[in-house]
Amino acid sequence: MKIRIAEDYDQMSTWAAELVAQQIKEKHNSVLGLATGSTPEGLYRLLVQMYQEGKLDFSHIITFNLDEYLGLAPTHPQSYAYFMHQHLLDHVNLKPENIHLPDGLAQDLDAFCQKYEEQIIAAGGIDLQVLGIGRNGHIGFNEPHHYLSVGTHTVRLTEDTIEANSRFFNSKDEVPHQAVTMGMGTILKAKKILLLANGKTKAKAIKDALCGRITTRIPASFLQLHRDITVIVDKEAASLL
Ligand code: F6R
Repeated sequence: MKIRIAEDYDQMSTWAAELVAQQIKEKHNSVLGLATGSTPEGLYRLLVQMYQEGKLDFSHIITFNLDEYLGLAPTHPQSYAYFMHQHLLDHVNLKPENIHLPDGLAQDLDAFCQKYEEQIIAAGGIDLQVLGIGRNGHIGFNEPHHYLSVGTHTVRLTEDTIEANSRFFNSKDEVPHQAVTMGMGTILKAKKILLLANGKTKAKAIKDALCGRITTRIPASFLQLHRDITVIVDKEAASLL
């Protein structure tokens, strides 16, 4: 595990963008696993900038997003699909058929989850998975629990996650209580993983995930088992390491 401690959010984002850009340059048809949330916003801004400057080509890149709220249409401003279009997908030359976003409105969710796994396998597996971390140690929406699921599945969000994510909604009552997410197995099968975290609120989760025992109570702790993971955190998120 490589751990890099950045001065601040901007440096974390710059280092992350350099790593993703390197992946895209080394393999022009890379399969990228992508996260939403505040953490990767700076990374996506820099990738868009690199594309606009002619330094990156996404025309053969394939993307799979980690998760989505159940019940939110892609047109809903708080859906993760909307976030991805706003921050990255609409601003680079990704082909629409190469973009995969979990369908929060799928009629048959089990069938959707199975298909999503099959699509990832058919694409050759994820080359680089970008992750943020919840303050409760979740990755994707794999929430702390007495067991974790392997493949893409639906999940009930914890109170802590609903509370943490309410900052994006008008009120806590509007936050969906369920989501669809890649499983721990889906994430751990990625060839490379890039975990990002910034700010004091993530310091405990980062310490527990990287330095503590592996436990389903801190899903990110399973990342310690991965062979090729780079962690880029700012000073505040690293403050308990
Ligand atoms: C989002 C995701 C989540 C977030 C995590 C941190 O697609 O999978 O695990 O990465 O909740 O969110 P932020 O970055 O908003 O603190």
